[in-house]
Amino acid sequence: MPKQIEELPLVSIHLDSSSDTPMYKQLYTLIREAILSGRFKGGQKLPGTRTFSSELKISRNTVVQAFEQLMIEGYISGRIGAGTYITKEIPDKFLSGRKTQPAQKIKSRQTQFKIDKSLGSFDLLLRNISEDKIVPFQNGLPSLEDFPFNTWLKIINKNGMYLPQLQFGYKKSTGYEPLKEAIANYLQSYRAVNCSPEQIIIINGSQQGLDLISRVLLKEQNNVLLEDPCYFGTRASVLTASSRIFPVPVDDEGISVEYAEKHYRKPDFIYTTPSHQFPLGSTMSISRRLHLLEYANKNDAWIIEDDYDSEFRYTGSPLPSLQGMDKFGRVIYIGTFSKVLFPGLRLGYLVLPSLEMVNPFAVAKSIIDRQSPILEQLVLTKFIDEGHFTKHIRKMRMLYKERQEFLVNELQSELGSILDVKPSGAGMHIVAFLPERFNDKKVSQLAKENDLIVYPLSEYVLKFKRKPGLVMGYTAFNQDKLKAGVRVLKKILKS
Ligand SMILES: Cc1ncc(COP(=O)(O)O)c(C=O)c1O
Repeated sequence: MPKQIEELPLVSIHLDSSSDTPMYKQLYTLIREAILSGRFKGGQKLPGTRTFSSELKISRNTVVQAFEQLMIEGYISGRIGAGTYITKEIPDKFLSGRKTQPAQKIKSRQTQFKIDKSLGSFDLLLRNISEDKIVPFQNGLPSLEDFPFNTWLKIINKNGMYLPQLQFGYKKSTGYEPLKEAIANYLQSYRAVNCSPEQIIIINGSQQGLDLISRVLLKEQNNVLLEDPCYFGTRASVLTASSRIFPVPVDDEGISVEYAEKHYRKPDFIYTTPSHQFPLGSTMSISRRLHLLEYANKNDAWIIEDDYDSEFRYTGSPLPSLQGMDKFGRVIYIGTFSKVLFPGLRLGYLVLPSLEMVNPFAVAKSIIDRQSPILEQLVLTKFIDEGHFTKHIRKMRMLYKERQEFLVNELQSELGSILDVKPSGAGMHIVAFLPERFNDKKVSQLAKENDLIVYPLSEYVLKFKRKPGLVMGYTAFNQDKLKAGVRVLKKILKS
Protein backbone atom coordinates (compact mmCIF):
# COMPACT_ATOMS: atom_id res chain seq x y z
CA MET A 1 0.00 0.00 0.00
CA PRO A 2 1.63 3.30 -1.03
CA LYS A 3 2.23 5.69 1.79
CA GLN A 4 -0.08 8.66 1.86
CA ILE A 5 1.22 12.20 2.13
CA GLU A 6 -0.45 12.89 5.42
CA GLU A 7 0.80 16.23 6.55
CA LEU A 8 0.83 17.78 3.16
CA PRO A 9 -2.11 20.17 3.42
CA LEU A 10 -1.09 21.51 6.82
CA VAL A 11 2.61 22.06 6.44
CA SER A 12 3.25 23.21 2.93
CA ILE A 13 0.17 24.55 1.28
CA HIS A 14 -0.43 28.22 1.91
CA LEU A 15 -2.94 29.83 -0.34
CA ASP A 16 -3.36 33.57 -0.58
CA SER A 17 -6.98 34.57 -0.99
CA SER A 18 -6.03 38.21 -1.67
CA SER A 19 -3.85 37.27 -4.65
CA ASP A 20 -4.90 37.89 -8.27
CA THR A 21 -3.86 34.34 -9.11
CA PRO A 22 -6.88 32.02 -8.99
CA MET A 23 -6.90 29.61 -6.03
CA TYR A 24 -6.84 26.47 -8.20
CA LYS A 25 -3.73 27.81 -9.97
CA GLN A 26 -2.00 28.48 -6.65
CA LEU A 27 -2.79 25.00 -5.43
CA TYR A 28 -1.67 23.43 -8.72
CA THR A 29 1.63 25.37 -8.59
CA LEU A 30 2.38 24.41 -4.98
CA ILE A 31 1.73 20.70 -5.55
CA ARG A 32 3.73 20.73 -8.79
CA GLU A 33 6.69 22.41 -7.06
CA ALA A 34 6.52 19.88 -4.26
CA ILE A 35 6.70 17.06 -6.80
CA LEU A 36 9.53 18.60 -8.79
CA SER A 37 11.57 19.39 -5.70
CA GLY A 38 11.26 15.77 -4.59
CA ARG A 39 9.28 16.50 -1.43
CA PHE A 40 6.41 14.45 -2.87
CA LYS A 41 7.72 11.15 -4.15
CA GLY A 42 6.53 9.16 -7.14
CA GLY A 43 3.91 6.58 -6.17
CA GLN A 44 2.73 8.40 -3.05
CA LYS A 45 -0.99 8.81 -2.67
CA LEU A 46 -2.38 12.31 -2.46
CA PRO A 47 -5.05 13.09 0.14
CA GLY A 48 -8.52 13.19 -1.35
CA THR A 49 -10.15 16.30 -2.75
CA ARG A 50 -12.46 16.46 0.26
CA THR A 51 -9.51 16.56 2.65
CA PHE A 52 -7.85 19.35 0.72
CA SER A 53 -11.11 21.24 0.58
CA SER A 54 -11.78 21.08 4.31
CA GLU A 55 -8.15 21.59 5.41
CA LEU A 56 -7.55 24.56 3.17
CA LYS A 57 -11.03 26.00 3.42
CA ILE A 58 -11.55 26.10 -0.29
CA SER A 59 -14.26 24.65 -2.46
CA ARG A 60 -13.92 21.11 -3.69
CA ASN A 61 -14.32 22.39 -7.20
CA THR A 62 -11.13 24.40 -6.80
CA VAL A 63 -9.24 21.28 -5.74
CA VAL A 64 -10.70 19.27 -8.63
CA GLN A 65 -9.58 21.95 -11.10
CA ALA A 66 -6.01 21.88 -9.71
CA PHE A 67 -5.95 18.08 -9.82
CA GLU A 68 -7.25 18.03 -13.37
CA GLN A 69 -4.46 20.32 -14.50
CA LEU A 70 -1.85 18.18 -12.75
CA MET A 71 -3.31 15.11 -14.37
CA ILE A 72 -3.29 16.63 -17.87
CA GLU A 73 0.38 17.46 -17.42
CA GLY A 74 1.19 13.99 -16.17
CA TYR A 75 2.21 14.82 -12.58
CA ILE A 76 -0.50 12.73 -10.99
CA SER A 77 -2.54 9.76 -12.10
CA GLY A 78 -5.52 7.74 -10.92
CA ARG A 79 -9.10 8.91 -10.71
CA ILE A 80 -10.06 12.16 -9.04
CA GLY A 81 -12.41 11.31 -6.19
CA ALA A 82 -11.29 7.69 -6.06
CA GLY A 83 -7.58 8.02 -5.30
CA THR A 84 -4.82 9.96 -7.04
CA TYR A 85 -1.09 9.19 -7.00
CA ILE A 86 2.09 11.07 -7.81
CA THR A 87 3.28 9.70 -11.15
CA LYS A 88 6.13 7.23 -10.82
CA GLU A 89 7.50 7.90 -14.29
CA ILE A 90 8.84 11.38 -13.51
CA PRO A 91 12.55 10.62 -13.84
CA ASP A 92 14.65 11.01 -10.69
CA LYS A 93 17.01 13.44 -12.37
CA PHE A 94 14.11 15.86 -12.67
CA LEU A 95 13.11 15.32 -9.09
CA SER A 96 16.12 15.35 -6.85
CA GLY A 97 16.47 18.68 -5.21
CA ARG A 98 15.28 20.39 -8.35
CA LYS A 99 14.63 24.06 -7.84
CA THR A 100 14.23 26.72 -10.49
CA GLN A 101 17.81 27.82 -10.99
CA PRO A 102 18.67 31.44 -11.52
CA ALA A 103 19.86 31.81 -15.11
CA GLN A 104 23.40 32.81 -14.16
CA LYS A 105 23.93 29.52 -12.34
CA ILE A 106 23.34 27.42 -15.43
CA LYS A 107 26.77 26.73 -16.83
CA SER A 108 27.55 27.87 -20.35
CA ARG A 109 29.67 24.76 -20.88
CA GLN A 110 26.52 23.12 -22.24
CA THR A 111 26.43 25.43 -25.27
CA GLN A 112 27.75 24.41 -28.65
CA PHE A 113 29.65 27.52 -29.59
CA LYS A 114 33.33 26.90 -29.84
CA ILE A 115 34.85 30.31 -29.65
CA ASP A 116 38.30 30.81 -31.04
CA LYS A 117 39.33 33.82 -28.99
CA SER A 118 42.09 34.70 -31.43
CA LEU A 119 39.41 35.53 -33.98
CA GLY A 120 37.28 37.59 -31.65
CA SER A 121 34.14 36.77 -29.73
CA PHE A 122 30.45 36.82 -30.48
CA ASP A 123 29.97 39.67 -28.04
CA LEU A 124 29.55 42.47 -30.55
CA LEU A 125 26.36 40.88 -31.83
CA LEU A 126 24.92 41.01 -28.34
CA ARG A 127 26.17 44.51 -27.69
CA ASN A 128 24.83 46.30 -30.75
CA ILE A 129 21.36 46.76 -29.31
CA SER A 130 19.38 49.74 -28.05
CA GLU A 131 17.36 48.56 -25.09
CA ASP A 132 16.06 51.69 -23.37
CA LYS A 133 17.68 54.51 -25.26
CA ILE A 134 19.52 55.28 -28.45
CA VAL A 135 22.76 57.10 -27.82
CA PRO A 136 25.26 58.60 -30.26
CA PHE A 137 27.09 57.06 -32.11
CA GLN A 138 25.31 53.73 -32.24
CA ASN A 139 25.94 52.25 -35.63
CA GLY A 140 23.72 50.83 -38.34
CA LEU A 141 20.58 52.35 -36.93
CA PRO A 142 18.31 54.32 -39.27
CA SER A 143 16.53 57.47 -38.12
CA LEU A 144 13.55 55.76 -36.54
CA GLU A 145 11.75 59.04 -35.86
CA ASP A 146 11.73 59.69 -39.61
CA PHE A 147 10.19 56.38 -40.53
CA PRO A 148 6.60 56.87 -41.80
CA PHE A 149 4.96 54.62 -39.22
CA ASN A 150 1.58 56.24 -39.95
CA THR A 151 1.75 55.06 -43.52
CA TRP A 152 2.82 51.63 -42.28
CA LEU A 153 -0.14 51.49 -39.88
CA LYS A 154 -2.56 52.67 -42.56
CA ILE A 155 -1.43 49.80 -44.77
CA ILE A 156 -2.02 47.35 -41.92
CA ASN A 157 -5.49 48.76 -41.32
CA LYS A 158 -6.41 48.84 -44.96
CA ASN A 159 -4.99 45.51 -46.04
CA GLY A 160 -4.26 43.34 -43.02
CA MET A 161 -7.90 42.52 -42.41
CA TYR A 162 -8.50 41.69 -46.03
CA LEU A 163 -5.59 39.34 -46.42
CA PRO A 164 -7.25 36.10 -47.56
CA GLN A 165 -7.65 33.80 -44.57
CA LEU A 166 -5.68 31.15 -46.36
CA GLN A 167 -2.56 33.32 -46.09
CA PHE A 168 -2.59 32.95 -42.31
CA GLY A 169 -1.91 29.24 -42.46
CA TYR A 170 1.51 27.67 -43.05
CA LYS A 171 3.03 29.15 -46.18
CA LYS A 172 6.02 28.41 -48.37
CA SER A 173 9.20 28.91 -46.41
CA THR A 174 10.74 30.83 -49.31
CA GLY A 175 8.46 33.82 -48.68
CA TYR A 176 5.33 35.69 -49.75
CA GLU A 177 5.23 35.59 -53.55
CA PRO A 178 4.13 39.21 -54.16
CA LEU A 179 6.96 40.41 -51.91
CA LYS A 180 9.50 38.38 -53.87
CA GLU A 181 8.19 39.97 -57.08
CA ALA A 182 8.41 43.47 -55.59
CA ILE A 183 11.97 42.80 -54.43
CA ALA A 184 13.02 41.35 -57.79
CA ASN A 185 11.69 44.45 -59.57
CA TYR A 186 13.46 46.75 -57.16
CA LEU A 187 16.77 44.89 -57.38
CA GLN A 188 16.73 44.80 -61.17
CA SER A 189 15.98 48.52 -61.45
CA TYR A 190 18.09 49.94 -58.64
CA ARG A 191 20.89 47.45 -57.99
CA ALA A 192 21.31 45.87 -61.45
CA VAL A 193 20.86 42.48 -59.79
CA ASN A 194 20.16 39.72 -62.25
CA CYS A 195 17.26 37.81 -60.77
CA SER A 196 13.78 36.39 -60.99
CA PRO A 197 11.45 36.14 -57.98
CA GLU A 198 12.02 32.36 -57.90
CA GLN A 199 15.66 32.86 -56.94
CA ILE A 200 14.70 34.87 -53.85
CA ILE A 201 14.32 33.55 -50.29
CA ILE A 202 12.76 35.88 -47.76
CA ILE A 203 14.74 35.81 -44.51
CA ASN A 204 14.63 37.39 -41.08
CA GLY A 205 17.39 39.91 -41.80
CA SER A 206 20.87 39.33 -43.24
CA GLN A 207 21.96 37.50 -40.13
CA GLN A 208 19.58 34.69 -40.95
CA GLY A 209 20.87 34.72 -44.52
CA LEU A 210 24.40 34.15 -43.24
CA ASP A 211 23.16 31.40 -40.96
CA LEU A 212 21.29 29.71 -43.82
CA ILE A 213 24.36 29.82 -46.04
CA SER A 214 26.40 28.30 -43.22
CA ARG A 215 23.89 25.51 -42.71
CA VAL A 216 23.27 24.68 -46.34
CA LEU A 217 26.60 25.19 -48.03
CA LEU A 218 29.40 25.41 -45.53
CA LYS A 219 31.10 22.21 -44.55
CA GLU A 220 33.31 21.75 -41.54
CA GLN A 221 36.87 22.69 -42.42
CA ASN A 222 35.80 24.69 -45.48
CA ASN A 223 38.11 27.59 -46.20
CA VAL A 224 36.32 30.89 -45.75
CA LEU A 225 38.01 34.12 -46.79
CA LEU A 226 36.80 37.09 -44.80
CA GLU A 227 37.54 40.74 -45.35
CA ASP A 228 39.84 41.98 -42.63
CA PRO A 229 38.51 44.00 -40.81
CA CYS A 230 35.18 42.23 -40.95
CA TYR A 231 31.54 42.42 -39.94
CA PHE A 232 31.19 40.52 -36.65
CA GLY A 233 27.88 38.89 -37.65
CA THR A 234 29.56 37.06 -40.50
CA ARG A 235 32.53 36.03 -38.42
CA ALA A 236 30.13 34.62 -35.80
CA SER A 237 28.16 32.60 -38.38
CA VAL A 238 31.27 31.14 -39.94
CA LEU A 239 32.75 30.31 -36.54
CA THR A 240 29.67 28.42 -35.46
CA ALA A 241 29.96 26.31 -38.61
CA SER A 242 33.51 25.32 -37.57
CA SER A 243 34.96 26.47 -40.85
CA ARG A 244 38.47 27.76 -41.24
CA ILE A 245 38.78 31.50 -41.45
CA PHE A 246 41.39 33.17 -43.64
CA PRO A 247 41.63 36.94 -43.27
CA VAL A 248 42.23 39.00 -46.40
CA PRO A 249 43.37 42.61 -46.03
CA VAL A 250 41.26 45.43 -47.43
CA ASP A 251 42.54 48.52 -49.26
CA ASP A 252 40.91 51.50 -50.97
CA GLU A 253 39.54 49.27 -53.73
CA GLY A 254 38.10 46.66 -51.40
CA ILE A 255 39.22 43.12 -50.55
CA SER A 256 42.74 42.42 -51.85
CA VAL A 257 42.25 39.63 -54.37
CA GLU A 258 45.93 39.77 -55.14
CA TYR A 259 46.78 38.88 -51.54
CA ALA A 260 44.20 36.08 -51.54
CA GLU A 261 45.59 34.62 -54.77
CA LYS A 262 49.09 34.66 -53.41
CA HIS A 263 48.28 33.13 -50.02
CA TYR A 264 45.15 31.03 -50.23
CA ARG A 265 44.96 28.45 -52.93
CA LYS A 266 41.66 26.73 -52.30
CA PRO A 267 38.98 29.07 -51.00
CA ASP A 268 35.45 27.67 -50.69
CA PHE A 269 33.77 30.95 -49.72
CA ILE A 270 34.66 34.61 -49.96
CA TYR A 271 32.63 37.09 -47.94
CA THR A 272 32.62 40.69 -49.11
CA THR A 273 30.81 44.02 -48.76
CA PRO A 274 31.65 45.60 -52.15
CA SER A 275 29.28 48.60 -52.07
CA HIS A 276 30.63 49.86 -48.77
CA GLN A 277 33.26 47.80 -47.01
CA PHE A 278 32.31 47.16 -43.42
CA PRO A 279 33.68 48.86 -41.43
CA LEU A 280 36.37 50.79 -43.38
CA GLY A 281 34.00 52.19 -46.00
CA SER A 282 35.80 51.65 -49.31
CA THR A 283 33.82 50.84 -52.46
CA MET A 284 35.16 48.00 -54.56
CA SER A 285 36.50 49.18 -57.92
CA ILE A 286 35.25 47.66 -61.15
CA SER A 287 38.60 46.03 -61.94
CA ARG A 288 38.72 44.50 -58.44
CA ARG A 289 35.19 43.15 -58.91
CA LEU A 290 36.14 41.44 -62.17
CA HIS A 291 39.28 40.07 -60.59
CA LEU A 292 37.35 38.70 -57.62
CA LEU A 293 34.75 37.02 -59.84
CA GLU A 294 37.48 35.31 -61.86
CA TYR A 295 39.35 34.20 -58.76
CA ALA A 296 36.14 32.71 -57.32
CA ASN A 297 35.26 30.99 -60.55
CA LYS A 298 38.73 29.53 -60.98
CA ASN A 299 38.51 28.03 -57.49
CA ASP A 300 34.86 26.98 -57.61
CA ALA A 301 34.24 29.22 -54.62
CA TRP A 302 31.07 31.01 -53.59
CA ILE A 303 31.11 34.76 -53.12
CA ILE A 304 28.78 36.09 -50.45
CA GLU A 305 27.90 39.67 -51.38
CA ASP A 306 26.50 41.48 -48.33
CA ASP A 307 24.81 44.58 -49.76
CA TYR A 308 23.67 45.85 -46.38
CA ASP A 309 23.56 49.65 -46.88
CA SER A 310 24.10 50.22 -50.61
CA GLU A 311 20.98 52.38 -50.90
CA PHE A 312 22.84 55.21 -49.18
CA ARG A 313 25.32 56.51 -51.75
CA TYR A 314 26.13 60.18 -51.50
CA THR A 315 28.64 60.79 -54.28
CA GLY A 316 28.79 59.67 -57.88
CA SER A 317 26.26 57.37 -59.47
CA PRO A 318 25.32 54.15 -57.70
CA LEU A 319 27.55 51.22 -58.57
CA PRO A 320 25.79 48.10 -59.77
CA SER A 321 25.92 45.04 -57.57
CA LEU A 322 28.71 42.51 -57.92
CA GLN A 323 26.01 39.91 -58.55
CA GLY A 324 24.94 41.81 -61.68
CA MET A 325 28.44 41.46 -63.14
CA ASP A 326 28.73 37.76 -62.34
CA LYS A 327 28.72 35.61 -65.49
CA PHE A 328 29.74 32.45 -63.63
CA GLY A 329 26.88 32.10 -61.13
CA ARG A 330 29.21 32.32 -58.13
CA VAL A 331 27.54 35.14 -56.16
CA ILE A 332 25.01 34.70 -53.37
CA TYR A 333 23.51 38.12 -52.76
CA ILE A 334 22.18 39.20 -49.34
CA GLY A 335 20.00 42.27 -48.82
CA THR A 336 18.27 43.60 -45.73
CA PHE A 337 15.47 46.00 -44.81
CA SER A 338 17.16 46.71 -41.46
CA LYS A 339 18.98 49.78 -42.74
CA VAL A 340 16.52 51.22 -45.27
CA LEU A 341 13.47 50.69 -43.06
CA PHE A 342 14.08 49.51 -39.48
CA PRO A 343 16.01 46.64 -37.88
CA GLY A 344 13.11 45.43 -35.71
CA LEU A 345 11.25 44.47 -38.89
CA ARG A 346 13.64 41.50 -39.27
CA LEU A 347 13.14 41.05 -42.98
CA GLY A 348 15.70 40.63 -45.72
CA TYR A 349 16.36 38.45 -48.75
CA LEU A 350 18.80 36.09 -50.34
CA VAL A 351 19.22 35.93 -54.09
CA LEU A 352 20.54 32.50 -55.01
CA PRO A 353 22.60 32.02 -58.16
CA SER A 354 20.56 29.09 -59.44
CA LEU A 355 17.10 27.61 -59.11
CA GLU A 356 18.57 24.23 -58.11
CA MET A 357 19.79 25.81 -54.88
CA VAL A 358 16.33 27.02 -53.85
CA ASN A 359 15.06 23.73 -52.48
CA PRO A 360 17.86 23.09 -49.94
CA PHE A 361 17.54 26.67 -48.71
CA ALA A 362 13.75 26.32 -48.49
CA VAL A 363 14.22 23.19 -46.38
CA ALA A 364 16.77 24.85 -44.09
CA LYS A 365 14.58 27.92 -43.64
CA SER A 366 11.61 25.75 -42.72
CA ILE A 367 13.75 23.84 -40.22
CA ILE A 368 14.76 27.07 -38.50
CA ASP A 369 11.43 28.88 -38.34
CA ARG A 370 9.17 27.55 -41.11
CA GLN A 371 8.67 30.99 -42.67
CA SER A 372 8.97 34.71 -41.98
CA PRO A 373 5.85 36.36 -40.51
CA ILE A 374 3.23 36.90 -43.19
CA LEU A 375 1.67 40.16 -42.00
CA GLU A 376 4.98 42.02 -42.08
CA GLN A 377 5.66 40.63 -45.54
CA LEU A 378 2.26 41.78 -46.78
CA VAL A 379 2.66 45.30 -45.39
CA LEU A 380 6.15 45.58 -46.82
CA THR A 381 4.90 44.49 -50.25
CA LYS A 382 2.29 47.24 -50.26
CA PHE A 383 4.83 49.71 -48.90
CA ILE A 384 7.08 48.96 -51.87
CA ASP A 385 4.33 48.69 -54.51
CA GLU A 386 2.71 51.98 -53.47
CA GLY A 387 6.01 53.83 -53.87
CA HIS A 388 6.66 54.62 -50.18
CA PHE A 389 9.83 52.56 -50.16
CA THR A 390 11.79 54.43 -52.83
CA LYS A 391 10.42 57.75 -51.54
CA HIS A 392 11.66 56.95 -48.04
CA ILE A 393 15.09 55.95 -49.34
CA ARG A 394 15.41 59.23 -51.28
CA LYS A 395 14.43 61.24 -48.21
CA MET A 396 16.79 59.36 -45.89
CA ARG A 397 19.65 59.62 -48.37
CA MET A 398 19.42 63.42 -48.20
CA LEU A 399 19.05 63.46 -44.44
CA TYR A 400 21.96 61.07 -43.83
CA LYS A 401 24.22 62.98 -46.21
CA GLU A 402 23.58 66.15 -44.20
CA ARG A 403 24.14 64.32 -40.92
CA GLN A 404 27.40 62.85 -42.09
CA GLU A 405 28.65 66.24 -43.30
CA PHE A 406 27.68 67.77 -39.99
CA LEU A 407 29.43 65.12 -37.94
CA VAL A 408 32.61 65.17 -40.01
CA ASN A 409 32.74 69.00 -39.72
CA GLU A 410 32.18 68.88 -35.97
CA LEU A 411 34.87 66.23 -35.49
CA GLN A 412 37.33 68.10 -37.68
CA SER A 413 36.77 71.44 -35.97
CA GLU A 414 36.57 70.13 -32.37
CA LEU A 415 38.99 67.21 -32.54
CA GLY A 416 40.96 67.82 -35.73
CA SER A 417 44.25 67.78 -33.84
CA ILE A 418 43.58 64.23 -32.62
CA LEU A 419 41.25 62.51 -35.05
CA ASP A 420 41.91 61.74 -38.68
CA VAL A 421 38.45 61.72 -40.18
CA LYS A 422 37.24 62.00 -43.78
CA PRO A 423 33.79 61.98 -45.34
CA SER A 424 32.57 58.65 -46.65
CA GLY A 425 30.83 58.41 -50.03
CA ALA A 426 28.28 55.92 -48.75
CA GLY A 427 26.71 54.15 -45.82
CA MET A 428 25.67 54.91 -42.28
CA HIS A 429 28.93 55.27 -40.38
CA ILE A 430 32.39 56.78 -40.60
CA VAL A 431 35.72 55.75 -39.16
CA ALA A 432 37.72 58.30 -37.17
CA PHE A 433 41.36 57.21 -36.81
CA LEU A 434 43.25 57.87 -33.59
CA PRO A 435 46.98 58.47 -33.13
CA GLU A 436 48.92 55.30 -32.24
CA ARG A 437 49.26 56.34 -28.60
CA PHE A 438 45.54 55.73 -28.05
CA ASN A 439 43.98 52.39 -27.26
CA ASP A 440 40.64 52.40 -29.09
CA LYS A 441 39.14 49.74 -26.78
CA LYS A 442 39.86 51.92 -23.77
CA VAL A 443 38.36 54.98 -25.48
CA SER A 444 35.29 52.93 -26.28
CA GLN A 445 35.01 51.81 -22.66
CA LEU A 446 35.34 55.37 -21.37
CA ALA A 447 32.77 56.51 -23.89
CA LYS A 448 30.37 53.85 -22.67
CA GLU A 449 30.78 55.10 -19.11
CA ASN A 450 29.74 58.52 -20.44
CA ASP A 451 26.66 57.25 -22.27
CA LEU A 452 28.27 57.28 -25.67
CA ILE A 453 28.83 54.43 -28.10
CA VAL A 454 31.92 54.33 -30.28
CA TYR A 455 33.14 51.00 -31.62
CA PRO A 456 36.86 50.25 -31.48
CA LEU A 457 38.16 49.45 -34.94
CA SER A 458 40.51 46.90 -33.40
CA GLU A 459 37.50 44.73 -32.48
CA TYR A 460 36.75 44.13 -36.16
CA VAL A 461 40.31 43.23 -37.00
CA LEU A 462 41.05 39.55 -37.56
CA LYS A 463 44.76 39.58 -38.21
CA PHE A 464 46.03 42.64 -40.06
CA LYS A 465 46.65 45.34 -37.49
CA ARG A 466 45.30 48.82 -38.25
CA LYS A 467 45.74 52.21 -36.70
CA PRO A 468 43.40 52.54 -33.73
CA GLY A 469 40.09 54.02 -34.75
CA LEU A 470 36.48 54.61 -33.80
CA VAL A 471 33.55 53.41 -35.87
CA MET A 472 30.81 55.97 -35.47
CA GLY A 473 27.22 55.81 -36.68
CA TYR A 474 25.44 59.09 -37.42
CA THR A 475 22.19 58.31 -39.22
CA ALA A 476 19.94 58.02 -36.16
CA PHE A 477 20.94 61.35 -34.60
CA ASN A 478 19.92 64.93 -35.28
CA GLN A 479 22.51 67.69 -35.27
CA ASP A 480 21.98 68.57 -31.59
CA LYS A 481 22.65 64.98 -30.56
CA LEU A 482 25.66 64.69 -32.83
CA LYS A 483 27.07 67.94 -31.44
CA ALA A 484 26.50 66.84 -27.85
CA GLY A 485 28.14 63.49 -28.63
CA VAL A 486 31.21 65.17 -30.07
CA ARG A 487 31.46 67.34 -26.94
CA VAL A 488 31.54 64.23 -24.72
CA LEU A 489 34.06 62.53 -26.97
CA LYS A 490 36.25 65.63 -26.81
CA LYS A 491 36.27 65.52 -23.04
CA ILE A 492 37.30 61.86 -23.13
CA LEU A 493 40.04 62.25 -25.73
CA LYS A 494 41.47 65.43 -24.26
CA SER A 495 41.44 64.32 -20.63
C1 LIG B 1 27.92 44.38 -42.71
C2 LIG B 1 26.52 44.21 -42.22
N1 LIG B 1 25.74 43.30 -42.80
C3 LIG B 1 24.46 43.14 -42.42
C4 LIG B 1 23.91 43.89 -41.41
C5 LIG B 1 22.44 43.80 -41.11
O1 LIG B 1 22.06 42.81 -40.34
P1 LIG B 1 20.51 42.39 -40.22
O2 LIG B 1 19.90 42.42 -41.59
O3 LIG B 1 20.57 41.02 -39.67
O4 LIG B 1 19.85 43.36 -39.32
C6 LIG B 1 24.70 44.80 -40.74
C7 LIG B 1 24.13 45.52 -39.58
O5 LIG B 1 24.75 46.11 -38.77
C8 LIG B 1 26.02 44.98 -41.17
O6 LIG B 1 26.80 45.89 -40.58
